[in-house]
Amino acid sequence: MRGLQGKRIVIAGGATGIGAATAERLAEEGAAVVVGDLNIDGARATAKRVTEAGGTALAVEFDLADERSVQALISRAVSELGAIDGLYNVGAELSPETMGRDTDLLGMDPAIWRRNHDVNLLGYALTCREAIPHLLDQGGGVIVNTSSGAAWGGDPSRPAYSASKAGVSSLTRHIAGRWGKEGIRCNGVAPGVVMTDAFKQSDSADVKAWALRSIRAPRLGEPEDLAGVVSFLFSDDAAYVSGQVWSVCGGWSLRE
Ligand SMILES: NC(=O)c1ccc[n+]([C@@H]2O[C@H](COP(=O)([O-])OP(=O)(O)OC[C@H]3O[C@@H](n4cnc5c(N)ncnc54)[C@H](O)[C@@H]3O)[C@@H](O)[C@H]2O)c1
Repeated sequence: MRGLQGKRIVIAGGATGIGAATAERLAEEGAAVVVGDLNIDGARATAKRVTEAGGTALAVEFDLADERSVQALISRAVSELGAIDGLYNVGAELSPETMGRDTDLLGMDPAIWRRNHDVNLLGYALTCREAIPHLLDQGGGVIVNTSSGAAWGGDPSRPAYSASKAGVSSLTRHIAGRWGKEGIRCNGVAPGVVMTDAFKQSDSADVKAWALRSIRAPRLGEPEDLAGVVSFLFSDDAAYVSGQVWSVCGGWSLRE
């Protein structure tokens, strides 16, 4: 991919899963990555894999739900790398305690809605707020946000998660529209079912079978499927793509 060599990209949520695979792929393409995450051990493990493969990576502990911590992540990235060229928002509140209680709108706990909002949507808005002035200092840059097929899938469960991800899609279009003329491209990816290690280890044979029936591809998604698309969106090969939220879902969102 063109234009990734030497680019400095902050990954907000790169300890495991899609974020970790994308950190490795971006580094393989020549970018220096700052791997931010609440899970610092996981972030360090990702950074170690990157550096062992010959890349440049720095692990930073931060919390999407904590404004000061988000500020510290971006300022640390700028001070360590001199500047930043990109931001990849990928972390999300996926803990069983929150996801498991995000089931029924009529019986909702508002705290679950607030938590989804604070991490998944406000957290992304805060990382963007902190990063955009630095991107403008560089004459522009690239932001990629992680939405979800749940944002438009009409999922009968997970209303708070789905709503937070729909907000991410909207935030993405806002940023593309507001700062496009100043050289900032902003896109989103909406994964379908992606077989992260956590998902593979879970006892979810029924979910896997349901997911496989729902898509048009012969297999479920892997983190590397997202890593390739996200890296492309950061690259100069995607120089004329902005304000889009791409489904990366094996045809799950296809309509007849
Ligand atoms: N895996 C899927 O099937 C799937 C489908 C649709 C969307 N997504 C989205 O893809 C993204 C990555 O998910 P994944 O499946 O790789 O899961 P994952 O759990 O491996 O990754 C999520 C990361 O976010 C981090 N995180 C959680 N709360 C945080 C916080 N408050 N501050 C900072 N970091 C925090 C976690 O520690 C973890 O490293 C998420 O935004 C998720 O909503 C995933």
